[in-house]
Amino acid sequence: MGSQISIERNQNPKPKPDQSHLGFGKYFTDHMFLMDYTKEEGWHEPRIVPYAPLMLDPSAMVFHYGQAVFEGLKAYKTKNDDILLFRPDKNMERLNISNERMNIPPIDEAFLIEAIKELVRVERDWIPVAEGTSLYIRPFIIATEPCLGVRAAEQYTFIIILSPVGAYYPEGIKPIKIHVENKYVRAVRGGTGFAKTSSNYASGLKAQIDAAEHGCSQVLWLDGIEKQYIEEVGSMNVFFKIAGEVVTPALNGSILNGVTRDSIIRLLEEWDVPVTERKISMEELYLAYTNGTLEEAFGTGTAAVISPIGELQWTDKRIVVNKGEIGVISKKLYDTITRIQSGQIEDTFGWTVD
Ligand code: COI
Repeated sequence: MGSQISIERNQNPKPKPDQSHLGFGKYFTDHMFLMDYTKEEGWHEPRIVPYAPLMLDPSAMVFHYGQAVFEGLKAYKTKNDDILLFRPDKNMERLNISNERMNIPPIDEAFLIEAIKELVRVERDWIPVAEGTSLYIRPFIIATEPCLGVRAAEQYTFIIILSPVGAYYPEGIKPIKIHVENKYVRAVRGGTGFAKTSSNYASGLKAQIDAAEHGCSQVLWLDGIEKQYIEEVGSMNVFFKIAGEVVTPALNGSILNGVTRDSIIRLLEEWDVPVTERKISMEELYLAYTNGTLEEAFGTGTAAVISPIGELQWTDKRIVVNKGEIGVISKKLYDTITRIQSGQIEDTFGWTVD
């Protein structure tokens, strides 16, 4: 791999944005990490260079057949000025799982973590410290070979960009309204649902727009075959608390193996809260609502961490969760995960890496 990372400093650094109005993914730092792949050389020329637009051939295969994967993780600066990454090994492991599915050559995971650390070190002054903020890290890979043949590309570029972010939802951690999607599906088994590939997100946009027309901010995705079983919410994993037990759809090939999802399961186990990964149908959820045992519902992901669900619209039925308020477990999970991530409480799991 030629693992010496060269660094070319940006001579024109930008002013840093106001930490109280960061939003999500709107500002980008002064540098980026790049590395190329060719069949002859493998992954080579790892480098940190000034952040700038890319020059790509219009026939680059990513533009035509969408061969692209990405990841998302966050860096925090602690009170002592240390930099913490949250479970980067899980993200890099998943990147290679996505690569495998999308026919992109694998990358050494330990090297990827080093590359992230090096770039974040270069940009350490960009890590925001205001409550609820972090430096979002977006590694991604695109097929760059100029060719219109439909086949796996033979040239790729791996890139890491960084964005100082605030809360994913500008309105704060407030329960959201969800439209249960009956027409479109996100993924099917045998497809790419478990991979973090760009097309999974593109194909979900139409449903998101339809949901907004129903006054909802996100969609609840059902399985692609029977349209009965719950899979994900928006671009997040989903959890429900029913009669004291927390349940989340089991990973079945069409669901993304979320790092936050995994962290939540481990925290709940640690707290002795019953937690089960299994199939859960809309019928079961509606029944739980009608018999008063549906206690909490929330989405989980790196960007939002926890996104409580206050209401679900399912055909002509309305399911109101916890009177539209954030639940006790949802709040405790949000507080615990964000405090572990930012080094405010002890990380007994060994998740944070400096
Ligand atoms: C996440 O929840 O972190 C996501 O995957 C959403 C991201 C694509 C912005």
